[in-house]
Amino acid sequence: MIPPKPPVRPEKVSLLTYLRLFRQDILSAQPAKLYRAWMAEFRTPFFRSYMINQPSLVKTVLNARPRDFPKSDRIGAGLRPLLGNSVFLTNGATWERQRRIIDPAFEGGRLRDTFPAMWAAGQAATARMGGGVQELEELTSFAAADVIFRTLFSIPIEDRIAQAVFSEFRDYQRTQPILNLAAFVKGPKWMPRLFSKRTKETAHSIRVLITELTEARMAQIKDGTAPDDLATKIMTTADPETGETFTTEEMVDQVAIFFLAGHETSASALAWTLYLLAMFPDWQEKLAAEAKALDAGCDFKVMSKLRLSRDVFREALRLYPPVPMMVRESKCPENFRDRAIKPGAQVVISPWHLHRHTRLWDNPDGFDPTRWATENGKQCMRDAFIPFSSGPRVCTGAGFAMVEGPLLLSMLVRNFRFETTERTPVPVAHLTVRSKDGIWLKISKRTDDA
Ligand code: HEM
Repeated sequence: MIPPKPPVRPEKVSLLTYLRLFRQDILSAQPAKLYRAWMAEFRTPFFRSYMINQPSLVKTVLNARPRDFPKSDRIGAGLRPLLGNSVFLTNGATWERQRRIIDPAFEGGRLRDTFPAMWAAGQAATARMGGGVQELEELTSFAAADVIFRTLFSIPIEDRIAQAVFSEFRDYQRTQPILNLAAFVKGPKWMPRLFSKRTKETAHSIRVLITELTEARMAQIKDGTAPDDLATKIMTTADPETGETFTTEEMVDQVAIFFLAGHETSASALAWTLYLLAMFPDWQEKLAAEAKALDAGCDFKVMSKLRLSRDVFREALRLYPPVPMMVRESKCPENFRDRAIKPGAQVVISPWHLHRHTRLWDNPDGFDPTRWATENGKQCMRDAFIPFSSGPRVCTGAGFAMVEGPLLLSMLVRNFRFETTERTPVPVAHLTVRSKDGIWLKISKRTDDA
């Protein structure tokens, strides 16, 4: 049984068809050969992009010489109304300074401090979950947003502002298909202007709400009444090089990206993992048995017992990497696989294709959480598994997500059983990898103690 995979397009299509397919969904717009190619060139009259699938080239771009392959401004332009100058978009000295301030908040020790808030969000998600046939992406988005608000600002999703931010973000997501195109195509400069008035308005109202939260927190920090959460940590950390802390404006930019990057991605991963568990009930039962360790109560140490949950979550991140592709721009003339790459060309790294590469992985499209203990799995983990990217620009929330994912998963399967329905999800790329018409599962409360 092979988990859902998007259809591929025919090898040869006209440019217009190609652009139309791109606009719909970047995954199904690709030919099958990308799953076995080391590199591919997209050549059109307007732009050239190169997708690299060869592990050594991916390492060159992400790990060895990241300064020569900064993030493309073109993508940034599309997200800027919402994210301003956030760490996700900046490059160079600004980006380095932002990471110096943000990174300490996500270090191992802090994760332990964050754990009770995650646990509380997991309990709330379990309490909210009803039975019957339900759409999972909606439920996991709510749960992941709750995790972010509780860990960042010590408020639950039921809070007035948290609710408003969550629903405005949902609207924002729906106005995004153009981003797919902008991400891949080094298109004309006017491309970002295609962003609708509605998108800009939504971005503005999200920022107004986040500013309210951030200003209130600034005041609490001054009063000495601020809770010890991620927001306080980030807002009180001074850049070790300059001694400066973030201004309110800069913090608003960062909160916007934490919320976006932190909840969309985890929601996608959780929903696909639950679908996989419904497809493979024997694994679901194994996880439910392992999850009995949670009965001992809220203690970070339990994470070391949720090993199967972690392996399953990892396998879901392999098959359905929430961020399916990343784009960089080459600054210098390069030679990749005997092809000359000019400065300014787009270099696309595709976790989606790398994670299912037929020349790298055993059983690339199959679901096999035991693979991580095999030689092939270990090798591929080092060379061809980048759900959080890699190198200096690696996801700041990677450690956080690897606690949140397995924890919430275990809490849910400890209490519920998930079964497939006749609706098979079709993966498509929105801001993250989602299902075209949602992920529908039948949910029932576990009454047995199995
Ligand atoms: C399963 C969950 C997650 C996945 C798969 C994921 C994946 C990624 C990936 C692939 C990138 C790099 C994007 C690029 O270079 O174009 C990234 C960056 C980022 N992520 Fe995550 N992420 C997840 C959860 C989180 C969480 C929970 C947070 C914060 C609470 C977070 C915050 C960020 C930030 C701030 C960046 C920008 C880092 C930089 O450019 O320096 N992510 N994430």
